[in-house]
Amino acid sequence: MELSNADMARVLTQALPYIQKYDGKTVVIKYGGNAMIDEELKSAVMCDAVLLAAVGVRVVLVHGGGPEITATLQRMGKESRFVGGLRYTDRETAEVAQMVLAGKLSKDLVAAIGRHGGRAVGLCGMDGGLFEARKKQSDTDLGFVGEIAAVNTAVVEDALHSGYIPVIATVGTDREGNVYNINADTAAAALAGSLGAENLILMTDVRGLLENPGDESTLIADVGIASLPALIEQGIVSGGMIPKCECCAAAVREGVGHTVIIDGRIPHSILIELFSDKGIGTLFH
Ligand SMILES: Nc1ncnc2c1ncn2[C@@H]1O[C@H](COP(=O)(O)OP(=O)(O)OP(=O)(O)O)[C@@H](O)[C@H]1O
Ligand SMILES: [Mg+2]
Repeated sequence: MELSNADMARVLTQALPYIQKYDGKTVVIKYGGNAMIDEELKSAVMCDAVLLAAVGVRVVLVHGGGPEITATLQRMGKESRFVGGLRYTDRETAEVAQMVLAGKLSKDLVAAIGRHGGRAVGLCGMDGGLFEARKKQSDTDLGFVGEIAAVNTAVVEDALHSGYIPVIATVGTDREGNVYNINADTAAAALAGSLGAENLILMTDVRGLLENPGDESTLIADVGIASLPALIEQGIVSGGMIPKCECCAAAVREGVGHTVIIDGRIPHSILIELFSDKGIGTLFH
């Protein structure tokens, strides 16, 4: 559909207050799920990131890559096993995660941003000591699944200061040199807290947090973090949504102003979320 000149002018002027609001603010975007597999959606997400950076937003892109890790492991004849939404990670799986996330996906995204006329730099948790990791403690052993022991934002701040969009793969090491695979939602939330971000946007492959995970019409538009443990206990929140909700709660507690899960299947969902009054997805408070 072609927009008339008048409509085009209206759209642009309506975005003005939002552009002013976010000028110089930090927005951390976790990019994952289907939006990462579909080339058209990927291009739209990179376009949004470049547009935001062009109008003065400090955009930080943290990416997942679960399906590509699973596919690479499959090619190597290795099956993936998930416990509470997290991948059991032996040493070989951690190596594959490092290769796929930091070696391939991160660089593909940097190149895609370049094609949209933006400037990006690929980083992982080891660069500049960004994420110091430790083994995640849980009832069932998860192997080299890491949690974040410390965040050192200097390398991200430097990249932003130099006009680059940092594209971050969430592998990190401990002081002994063990490599850990860190859930990208968790890492994005920790980074948003440490950077004092205004917004944390987690893109996923559903509309947001659902009352009934099988029914997309049951979107919970906003949720208080105090009610999350009960939702997990009741099994309403399961799988990959557990770490997602837990890290949203952590981000809210750390003072990230606006923490949302949005539907990455909608083209340009980031722009709609930031530059309009349309609340899409689930807002955590
Ligand atoms: N109550 C719920 N509401 C919405 N989704 C839920 C709920 N409970 C479980 N889920 C599942 O959580 C999934 C989202 O988490 P998942 O980890 O699979 O994706 P992602 O984090 O977007 O991608 P990646 O892990 O690859 O970065 C949904 O696709 C859905 O199957
Ligand atoms: Mg996930």
